[in-house]
Amino acid sequence: MAKMEVKTSLLDDMIGVGDMVLLEPLDEDSFIDNLKKRFDHNEVYTYIGSVVISINPYRSLPIYTPEKVEEYRNRNFYELSPHIFALSDEAYRSLRDQDKDQCILITGESGAGKTEASKLVMSYVAAVCGKGAEVNQVKEQLLQSNPVLEAFGNAKTVRNDNSSRFGKYMDIEFDFKGDPLGGVISNYLLEKSRVVKQPRGERNFHIFYQILSGASEDFLCKLKLEQDFSRYNYLGLDSAKVNGVDDAANFRTVRNAMQIVGFMDHETQSVFEVVAAVLKLGNIEFKPESRVNGLDESKIKDKNELKEICELTGIDQSVLERAFSFRTVEAKQEKVSTTLNVAQAYYARDALAKNLYSRLFSWLVTRINESIKAQTKVRKKVMGVLDIYGFEIFEDNSFEQFIINYCNEKLQQIFIELTLKEEQEEYIREGIEWTHIEYFNNAIICDLIENNQTGILAMLDEECLRPGTVTDDTFLEKLNQVCATHQHFESRMSKCSRFLNDTTLPHSCFRIQHYAGKVMYQVEGFVDKNNDLLYRDLSQAMWKANHSLIKALFPEGNPAKINLKRPPTAGSQFKASVATLMKNLQTKNPNYIRCIKPNDKKAAHIFNDALVCHQIRYLGLLENVRVRRAGYAFRQAYEPCLERYKMLCKQTWPHWRGPARSGVEVLFNELEIPEEEFSFGRSKIFIRNPRTLFKLEDLRKQRLEDLATLIEKIYRGWKCRTRFLLMKKSQVVIASWYRRYAQQKKYQKIKSSAIIVQSYIRGWKARKLLRELKHQRRCNEAATIIAAYWHGTQARRELKRLKEEARRKHAVAVIWAYWLGLKVRREYRKFFRANAGRKIYEFTLQRLMQKYFLEMKNKMPSLSPIDKNWPARPYLFLDSTHKELKRIFHLWRCKKYRDQFTDQQKLIYEEKLEASELFKDKKALYPASVGQPFQGAYLEISKNPKYKKLKDAVDEKIIIAEVVSKINRANGKATSRIFLLTKNNVLLVDQKSGNIKSEVPLGDVTKVSMSSQNDGFFAVHLKEGSGAAGKGDFLLSSDHLIEMATKLYRTTLSQTKQKLNIEISDEFLVQFKRDKVCVKFIQGSQKNGNIPTCKRKNNRLLEVAVP
Ligand SMILES: Nc1ncnc2c1ncn2[C@@H]1O[C@H](COP(=O)(O)OP(=O)(O)OP(=O)(O)O)[C@@H](O)[C@H]1O
Ligand SMILES: [Mg+2]
Repeated sequence: MAKMEVKTSLLDDMIGVGDMVLLEPLDEDSFIDNLKKRFDHNEVYTYIGSVVISINPYRSLPIYTPEKVEEYRNRNFYELSPHIFALSDEAYRSLRDQDKDQCILITGESGAGKTEASKLVMSYVAAVCGKGAEVNQVKEQLLQSNPVLEAFGNAKTVRNDNSSRFGKYMDIEFDFKGDPLGGVISNYLLEKSRVVKQPRGERNFHIFYQILSGASEDFLCKLKLEQDFSRYNYLGLDSAKVNGVDDAANFRTVRNAMQIVGFMDHETQSVFEVVAAVLKLGNIEFKPESRVNGLDESKIKDKNELKEICELTGIDQSVLERAFSFRTVEAKQEKVSTTLNVAQAYYARDALAKNLYSRLFSWLVTRINESIKAQTKVRKKVMGVLDIYGFEIFEDNSFEQFIINYCNEKLQQIFIELTLKEEQEEYIREGIEWTHIEYFNNAIICDLIENNQTGILAMLDEECLRPGTVTDDTFLEKLNQVCATHQHFESRMSKCSRFLNDTTLPHSCFRIQHYAGKVMYQVEGFVDKNNDLLYRDLSQAMWKANHSLIKALFPEGNPAKINLKRPPTAGSQFKASVATLMKNLQTKNPNYIRCIKPNDKKAAHIFNDALVCHQIRYLGLLENVRVRRAGYAFRQAYEPCLERYKMLCKQTWPHWRGPARSGVEVLFNELEIPEEEFSFGRSKIFIRNPRTLFKLEDLRKQRLEDLATLIEKIYRGWKCRTRFLLMKKSQVVIASWYRRYAQQKKYQKIKSSAIIVQSYIRGWKARKLLRELKHQRRCNEAATIIAAYWHGTQARRELKRLKEEARRKHAVAVIWAYWLGLKVRREYRKFFRANAGRKIYEFTLQRLMQKYFLEMKNKMPSLSPIDKNWPARPYLFLDSTHKELKRIFHLWRCKKYRDQFTDQQKLIYEEKLEASELFKDKKALYPASVGQPFQGAYLEISKNPKYKKLKDAVDEKIIIAEVVSKINRANGKATSRIFLLTKNNVLLVDQKSGNIKSEVPLGDVTKVSMSSQNDGFFAVHLKEGSGAAGKGDFLLSSDHLIEMATKLYRTTLSQTKQKLNIEISDEFLVQFKRDKVCVKFIQGSQKNGNIPTCKRKNNRLLEVAVP
């Protein structure tokens, strides 16, 4: 299906007609209508045979994508809709495959899209030609030469924001495989006047603006430039910024392109220095100065700019200054110097700027050529691309337009020549009879311009070289004389009076009837521009520059090579280069792209009929169609023709077996096409009228519809049938699958049923077998049990019998023994009664004792003296023995226990024993003291620094050191005192100060009294008349009363060998000074807790309430 959509001819889906040759009727209106119709449908390309007409769409169309490149690649020219790629492909393929050098001639007026077209051609060729690192580099260099040349050679004009101000022809060279090798660029006539002056609304060359907007501060500083455009007189200010153009970005692109093309850094630098110098030249201004001899002289106003230019270019300032002030004319060894007036100085300045820039441009082209030059010497195939200014008709046409139009005349000439030649060659090749074709040959106009004797250019040169006063008017006069009779020359003043009254033709003008229309030229400036003079002083000054590029640009300035001959004029130079170009083009196969500008507004979608009509006229496009259609309008090789129309005839449809030509013959006969309408060539059919072709196309269209219906019908039938067959086949497959499935299911069911039945039977059989086996086993077991029982019964019977037997035997033996015993006893009874009783008693007793002790041994209690356990008495008769044994054992284990004591422990226990003897059951305080160890020195006198003095005073061993309360005799209140007991004394010491209050030798202590109650009060009675007794007895209270009393008792005993009297009574007398006071202990309330309180009741009674 997809294939059906592929185009096979440009006739398919054609909007208007894709090839103007097929236009019916052919006239200007239908031509324009056709273009317009196509333009409105975004078809910007239309053919005239092999010529492509391109209308500038002024917007980017999606028709240049890589996919499009692929679409047009290796396709026949007429196969797809008209496109610049089709032409490029055709040219490239015939170059590569047929070894024919090609040239692509792009013409059209300014803004028509020539430069864009040339770039599209180049990019297409780059895309389809060979690949590889080296080839890609060549391609890249060729493509990148464009931005460089555009920056220096293009400018914004009122017609085009990127107008090429030079003609360009580029030869791209290929090797035999079609891979690019390199290229050569030729440039034609740069519009250098733009450097010094631009018309309103136009700009100078792009590079000036790019450098100022895009270069870094640093770089600008190096070039002595400032960013501000208004600083430079040469930059037209009214349109310095162009919409949609980023000068700064373009500057980067240009520098990058220069690098890719191969410019060295110093070369780039030099180029920009020259550009800067040109820009700065415009700022040099002159003022008049009169000299004595009356001659006008000029002077530079501000030398600063001049100085900077000289620094930039390495020119001696004085030399350049002089060159702006003087002009030296040399003639036959004579040198004459004249001064320049202000106008002349400005003229000289501008001439220098123009020359500098145009020579720089030519140098750039040469330099690029050096880079892109093919590196090999092998034979190359060449594709030339010519992007040259189109025919120009302005209001004021000057020398430049004249030159440009001359170039276009030449191109038209070559077009006619080559087209006709090709047409003729094709007729001959195809064996078709050649009939004369009527067309306008513009050779006559070319002759008017370029004839060596009478041509306008020759005349101009002659005038320029002529001695004497030469002006533009004298030149016009000459023209009027020489060309007066020429058919295409018109002038008011010519001898031919035809135009005497033509007011549209001013006196200072002449008019030429170009092939594309009449153009009126203003004669002013022709001589000057043709002369293109630069004063020798200036070229010499430039040559002297210390700047290699500038020096190279002005070789004629070298005094050693002084050439007094005038340099060739601009006109003759151009004529020569055009001649070379034409010669070059003639050797190549031409391909034409004719660009048309649809409107003057640079706007998309606008088609200005009048403007297009004008261009069609001067491009000679109708002429073009006519030439092309002179013989036969349409031709096509037999094969594609038969392929396209074979459905129109039964014999050729669907297949023609014979040769294509006879197939076409049969076809045309069948269709009854009049014989004069076509002719059979060798390989092509030639159709005279487009009408015939369209008839064929209509028939084809109709037939295609029928065929489509037929195909649709057959296809539908086929589709339904195949669907039916498929369904049938599917049904069989499904049925068979289903049957298989059903059978499978059935089989599985039977199988599982069989297995179930089988398993039931097997189960039943097994159970039956099991039952049998079980029965058998049970029978066996029963037999065994019965046997066992039987054997058991047998055994028991036997046992019973044996036992009975044994019992009987035993009974017999016993009876026998008893009998014997009885007999013996009866016999020995008399002896036994006398002794045996006592003996048996002793023996039995002995046995019992023995048993008692042995058992006692095992039942002994623990060795702890406090263990109260003692085994129970076994026999009553051992009661006293048992108690005695207990006592002995207790004493023994107490001794054992005591034996473990150390001497110190013994001492402690002795003391405790002493205490027990003294106080047990006498003093209620005693039981609480039993568990308390006696420590003696509760206060550590020696360790406490407070009592150092006390310690020194008491040098004996301290037995007791304890804080006691001393009861005040007056009120019964207590005061703390330290109670010290040493070997010999009792001391009372002040607790705070450590001072000894009383010291009593033990011999003076007569008695210690205390209550029987639970209190710590005690009185120490002193011997009457002793030294210490003066103050009376001590009434004290201590928490360790029992210990203190015991120790006091023991110490006194060991010291005085007398027992200290210890009185325990609840009422005793105490000697207080001279009086005796009774201390009485009463059972008091528990008001003060457990602390006893002491109260003086009267002079004789002190009452202590013990809780
Ligand atoms: N095929 C195209 N597609 C889109 N825009 C185009 C195309 N061709 C031309 N243009 C637009 O038209 C402008 C002018 O085209 P171009 O510079 O090629 O004209 P030209 O014929 O070379 O003019 P000049 O003679 O002044 O150099 C381009 O800058 C571009 O904007
Ligand atoms: Mg251009």
